[in-house]
Amino acid sequence: MKLVFLGPPGAGKGTQSQHLAKEYKIAQISTGDMLRAEVKAESDIGKLAKKIMDNGELVPDDLIVSMIQKRIQVDDCKNGFILDGFPRSLGQAEALDTMFASQNMQLDAVLSLEVDEEVLAERISGRFSCAKCGASYHKLFKQPKVDKVCDSCGSTEFVSRADDNKETVLARLETYRKQTAPLLPYYQKKNCLYAINGMKSVDEVTKDIDQVLKQIK
Ligand code: AP5
Ligand code: ZN
Repeated sequence: MKLVFLGPPGAGKGTQSQHLAKEYKIAQISTGDMLRAEVKAESDIGKLAKKIMDNGELVPDDLIVSMIQKRIQVDDCKNGFILDGFPRSLGQAEALDTMFASQNMQLDAVLSLEVDEEVLAERISGRFSCAKCGASYHKLFKQPKVDKVCDSCGSTEFVSRADDNKETVLARLETYRKQTAPLLPYYQKKNCLYAINGMKSVDEVTKDIDQVLKQIK
């Protein structure tokens, strides 16, 4: 199964992708996580990406497309994958079409998580994640089951993201509106877009996604 997750910052793409990856035994490919790893490693890509990410803008299409091209060749993608945060511009969507066509692959569905803007701000401001495995939490909506211990790996170290401050979040929302929202009609025309109400609880959203995926399997 090959899926794309679309949605504004804080809509729940990462949260739901983690769940789907486990349930369907497919790879979660988060371009945001890949870029944050480059930033942490202080690589050339990381140095370039850091400034852009801090400004809430998109890193150049050619850079991200070549990262995805390499990533989908890795063994863990054989059973399928979820693209979490890619594509997010028309150029990236067209490049993905070309990539899939050249490898005889087909996109099964594009899941669009729809969430009101006030809720996005609340979700982003309460977010934190496990420093070891990346599992995502929220101080109001999704605390670890045991206080300060990661449910997935048992680590006790948690981190917040550098781009989750108010100014950058506003810029990320604007970037989404201008550059990523045009992908909704793009995929609508291809008849593979499924709108999901992302305002419900994490578990309810998961159930709704499962329903959609059952229909297309
Ligand atoms: P990226 O890391 O992809 O960030 P984003 O798109 O802004 O999305 P987020 O990770 O903020 O939100 P999410 O939808 O995953 O929500 P989450 O599940 O965490 O990108 C970061 C930057 O990298 C970009 O700004 C750009 O610069 C660059 N970049 C990345 N990809 C790129 C690309 N393709 N091209 C160019 N540049 C690129 O949920 C948020 C919080 O809410 C969590 O705490 C969670 O626990 C909670 N939550 C989730 N669902 C619910 C729910 N249903 N109810 C209550 N709480 C919930
Ligand atoms: Zn963990």
